[in-house]
Amino acid sequence: MRNVKRNILLTPGPATTTDTVKFAQIVPDICPRETEFGELMESISTGLTRIVADENHYTCVLFGGSGTAAVDSVLSSVIGEDTVIIINNGAYGKRMCEIATVYGVHFLEFVSPPDKPVDLIALEELFRSTHQSISHLAVVHHETTTGLLNDVQRLGDLCKKYQAELIVDAISSFGAVPIHMKDMNIGYIVASSNKNVQGLPGVSFVIASKQTFEDLKQVRPRSYYLNLYDQYKYFLQHRQMRFTAPIQTLYALQQAISELRVEGIEQRYERYTRSWESLTEGIHRMGLNHIVSEQYHSKLVTSISEPDCDGYDFQNMHDFFYNQGFTIYPGKVEKLKTFRIANIGDISHQDIEAFLVLLEIYLQDIGFSLRKVVNTHVAETE
Ligand SMILES: Cc1ncc(COP(=O)(O)O)c(C=O)c1O
Repeated sequence: MRNVKRNILLTPGPATTTDTVKFAQIVPDICPRETEFGELMESISTGLTRIVADENHYTCVLFGGSGTAAVDSVLSSVIGEDTVIIINNGAYGKRMCEIATVYGVHFLEFVSPPDKPVDLIALEELFRSTHQSISHLAVVHHETTTGLLNDVQRLGDLCKKYQAELIVDAISSFGAVPIHMKDMNIGYIVASSNKNVQGLPGVSFVIASKQTFEDLKQVRPRSYYLNLYDQYKYFLQHRQMRFTAPIQTLYALQQAISELRVEGIEQRYERYTRSWESLTEGIHRMGLNHIVSEQYHSKLVTSISEPDCDGYDFQNMHDFFYNQGFTIYPGKVEKLKTFRIANIGDISHQDIEAFLVLLEIYLQDIGFSLRKVVNTHVAETE
């Protein structure tokens, strides 16, 4: 097997993949309506379900499409005429509100700061005080905009109290942060192939209990293509997606799931955490800060305040790193000047340390690092 040029993606996904995942796409042409392909999809569906739930009671419905397709599918297929409360504490919570608006889904937006935990007392007050009939609560588990990890366990407890179903966009936490759907009282999990699962982009999916999917028969769907109940039922009957499946991406996903099984979820999260510790120790040493405190941080994606320095320009910094094989990502927090570094994918803390060496050179070049080193020294000697 030839090696593929290794680019290190410090982006919040698609993440760096192993060569074995990349090469798993090279398969003989096959029609996705063949039994053999149905078996592959069934095994992927079971493998993904097992990551968060008991596959005897829960199942996973696959779609061809990026993560947003599965979020879109849930919001357009499960809510009926009741109301969903959507927690908006970043770009992806905001996107859920936009999707609900397009489909005419009744929703209440619960706006929360992008770098602080959700105020559960205020959220409970909303459940209690509204005259609308709340059937669902939707939240992004890991707000990839900032690195904030929302406390789904406590949100699940709140849902139990108010008999609402919890919808969790776990697109950037699934496969690394341990999730137990039943214990956490999560109704629906949404995720995709190309982040912590370390597969290639093109597959997104929804996991729920089999009974939950069956119950969707009663709900009027708002989308034809992304109709969740129909996609579930069709797969159950035919072991096929309703529309053309992204064949090669699914072969790669099968390989990625088996690599995740070998590594183990907890071990993968430990590897990512080790990289995050190197990252944060390094940026602090250079005088940079991240915006979410450690207590609430996912340790997967870090939003870092831009260097306060005239010579700084994100595109220029991006190009400097890109030419050295590292891809970095702009910030996405309204009103705050940040850039983002993710430490997910098939990378290690040694890759992060190599990135930090270059970061120090870049900061010195633009006249930042030296100034900070002097400041730190002054602070220490005061
Ligand atoms: C939490 C979250 N939700 C939704 C999305 C959208 O996923 P996609 O770009 O694959 O549609 C992302 C992408 O980064 C995400 O991190």
